[in-house]
Amino acid sequence: MGYAMRKVKVDDLVGNEILALPIVSDNDIVLIHADVVLTSDLITRVRNIGLYEIYIRDDKVEEKKVDILPKSNVPEHIYKVEETMEDSKVVVKSVLEKHIYKHNKDLWQIGQEAEKIINSVLEEPEVVTNITEIRNVSTDMYTHCLNVCSLSTIMALRLKMSEKQVRNVSIGAILHDIGLRYVNVPYIDITEKEMNKKDSLEYRNHTVYGYSSIQDESWISDTSKEIILMHHERIDGTGYPFGQTGDKLKLEVKLVSICDEFDSLISGIGNKKLKIYEAIEFLKINSGVKFDAAITNKLLESVAAFPVGITVITDKGEKGVVVRQNKDYTDRPVIRMTFHSDGTPYEENVEKNLMTELTMFIIDTE
Ligand SMILES: [Fe+2]
Ligand SMILES: [Fe+2]
Repeated sequence: MGYAMRKVKVDDLVGNEILALPIVSDNDIVLIHADVVLTSDLITRVRNIGLYEIYIRDDKVEEKKVDILPKSNVPEHIYKVEETMEDSKVVVKSVLEKHIYKHNKDLWQIGQEAEKIINSVLEEPEVVTNITEIRNVSTDMYTHCLNVCSLSTIMALRLKMSEKQVRNVSIGAILHDIGLRYVNVPYIDITEKEMNKKDSLEYRNHTVYGYSSIQDESWISDTSKEIILMHHERIDGTGYPFGQTGDKLKLEVKLVSICDEFDSLISGIGNKKLKIYEAIEFLKINSGVKFDAAITNKLLESVAAFPVGITVITDKGEKGVVVRQNKDYTDRPVIRMTFHSDGTPYEENVEKNLMTELTMFIIDTE
């Protein structure tokens, strides 16, 4: 079912318009989801983002209707955990930039940011039950640490880990790559196979350096320390530094190693940068081989292959923008069509739900 939309100047918005296309930031974070009713608060937010024009639906909601619309039916414009991560990034970056080996006096501040991430996830339980939408992220180590921390925390709660386990996972995850501070080799958008032997050995040392730098910190638990030391171990024994097999690895370590691998692949930290659906394919292939099958499958069933706001290309050569997810089907979202296969734009607004358009497949993203 499609509906008409039109472009309007933000200054001309009067309230109760429905946003037709999601508003996405420069680093691909959805700031306001499509189909949200624009309240005066949201219009102020749109203005603050610095937008001049936006797309709204033509079927404006009647004023009366908005009053009786239950709050739960209005999609949240942004999860608290995403906002917390933005704030935490500033702290993590400033502490780690100044951090030198074994000089740990400010490190507790990073631990506090992990606590804030746990709390913001707990405050909004739907973050744990809904499909997680991760977007291709900027390639920097600080964003990577935060992404791995929030994804690991959400997954630990999905796996119904205890409060103590969640905390250990979260703190281990936010600090897992602290050892990268002490290695001096290029590790961004490059696979280990492409590094020369010396660089590859040095890169691998980040696990041991990280661990030895923080091993005397009493506020970091043994489990969190193990995460830092062993997040590159793989259950088939092909990982490092010890080549431990799955039976020797704690659940918390296995969990962070999967979340780390996923984010490393899409951010290009120690890997060649991949698209999200390609990283998902990689995890699928290695589920039960390199990564614990139960945890990997849990991640695969809860992370969107095509997040809201991304442009997708269909097997028929058409293009569209993802506007909503279908619960329980992470690779078959609802898309708003933008271009026909011959490159001409869609004149009217057509939405296709891949749960009903069963012969339509997404083959790539932009
Ligand atoms: Fe690492
Ligand atoms: Fe990492």
